[in-house]
Amino acid sequence: MSESFNFSTKLIKEAGPIDPHTGAANVPIYLSSTFHQFDFDQYGKYDYTRSGNPTREALEQAISALEGGVQGFAFASGMAAISTAFLLLSEGDHVVISEDVYGGTFRVVTQVLGRLGISHTFVDTTDLERVKAAIQPNTRVIYIETPSNPTLKVTDIGAIAAIAKSHGCLTFVDNTFMTRCSAAA
Ligand SMILES: Cc1ncc(COP(=O)(O)O)c(C=O)c1O
Repeated sequence: MSESFNFSTKLIKEAGPIDPHTGAANVPIYLSSTFHQFDFDQYGKYDYTRSGNPTREALEQAISALEGGVQGFAFASGMAAISTAFLLLSEGDHVVISEDVYGGTFRVVTQVLGRLGISHTFVDTTDLERVKAAIQPNTRVIYIETPSNPTLKVTDIGAIAAIAKSHGCLTFVDNTFMTRCSAAA
C-alpha cells in the first residue's frame, strides 16, 4: 500500500479481507480449535488453530502491512513472542543484548538460555562501538529493546541491523514502548 496514506487510512484498508462467505466487512472471530478436513490425506489451509487461524492470520497480515514488513506473527503475550524468537538459537550460540532489558527477558536470558548452552553479553546498545566489540564468532543475534524498559534508552535500530547483517547475525527488536505505528499515528 502506498506510503502516502496516513496511518488511520492504512488501518482501515488493511483491516482484513471481506468475508467471502457472508460479506462481513470485519473479519469474523473464528473460535474453532479444529477445522474439518474434507479429504483424508490432504489438509486444507487450516487444520488446527495453534498452527493457523483465519482471525489471527488477518491480524498478522494487517500488522505486517502497517509496519511495511513481509510477515507478521501474533502471540498471546510479549514473553511468548520473545521466548519463541530465542528458540531459533542452538547450543553454542551467543547473544549480544541490551543491558537494561525488561525483567522477564532478563530472566529468560540469564536463567533459561544458559541452561540450553546459549551464552550472552549485556551491553549498552546505544553505544555502537560497544556492540561491535561484544560480537563473538558465535554471535547469532543482536537483541535490542528500544526504548528500553524502564530506563527508556533509545537504540538506533537501523544502525544495529546494519552491524548485525555485516556479521551474519539476526536482529531482534523489542519495540513495546514505541512502535513505528504509534510514532506515525
Ligand atoms: C519492554 C517489554 N517487553 C516485554 C514485555 C512482556 O510482555 P507480556 O507481559 O505481554 O509478556 C513487557 C511487559 O511489560 C515489556 O515492557
